Amino acid sequence: MARRTKVYEGKAKILYEGPEPGTLVQYFKDDATAFNAKKKEIIEGKGVLNNRLSEFFMSGLNNIGIPTHFLKRLNMREQLISSCEIIPLEVIVRNFAAGTLCERLGLEEGTRLSRPLVEYCYKDDSLGDPLVSEEHIAAFGWASHPEMDEILSLALRVNDFMSGIFYGVGIRLVDFKIEIGKVFESEFQRLVVADEISPDSCRLWDIESGKKLDKDVFRRDLGDLSDAYTEVAMRLGVIQSNKSQLTEPRLVK
Ligand code: TYD
Repeated sequence: MARRTKVYEGKAKILYEGPEPGTLVQYFKDDATAFNAKKKEIIEGKGVLNNRLSEFFMSGLNNIGIPTHFLKRLNMREQLISSCEIIPLEVIVRNFAAGTLCERLGLEEGTRLSRPLVEYCYKDDSLGDPLVSEEHIAAFGWASHPEMDEILSLALRVNDFMSGIFYGVGIRLVDFKIEIGKVFESEFQRLVVADEISPDSCRLWDIESGKKLDKDVFRRDLGDLSDAYTEVAMRLGVIQSNKSQLTEPRLVK
């Protein structure tokens, strides 16, 4: 079999060169990390679930006219994406207070925010992804003012779409993170939603019980992460009834 060229390996995904220029193959690993990779574990089936869930959200966004890097799913763990230059920001949208917002401002977890709050963190693990303002983004040239306007508008549109989808299956979208990429097409450049959208980068609580269905299950040792992600995927109709679809076929002797 021909060897593929690895372009980049991150904590949860690997990027390989794609079959056509301007494309990449994004491979979802089973690795779970938290607290800047101080806590690590392999969660069997997580990569398969996140590949399917990210496909579900990204293709939904494409269908309603919000551009993403997603082209098509290739197999259980891989998807074809447009190659793009990632803007070095974690774009966070919050509907309810949780995580670092509570720590910073002393808010009680779960406090409803009067409007969606968009925050930016500079993507640098060695610095712990520090919170930055639009002034920092402009001063260091990470994005221009028109790009920042577009990023804000994309983030809020993604929030409306995802909040509605999750509401329909009894899940509260507390907050989430997206990344934005620049795609170059001849002399034009456009911004797209990139990376992944999965329970790894969202806070998802059951509306009735408040049960956590996201990576906080792993961060705080609240139970089986793959059970939580399977529940999310089942409620969304992304997988059917059990976990057997999450393991690769094995050779039967
Ligand atoms: P936040 O509360 O700032 O940080 P933490 O998850 O460490 O408590 O995160 C807000 C949301 O954004 C949450 O759903 C996790 C997500 N997020 C990521 O997925 N990756 C990141 O690097 C950051 C900073 C946030």
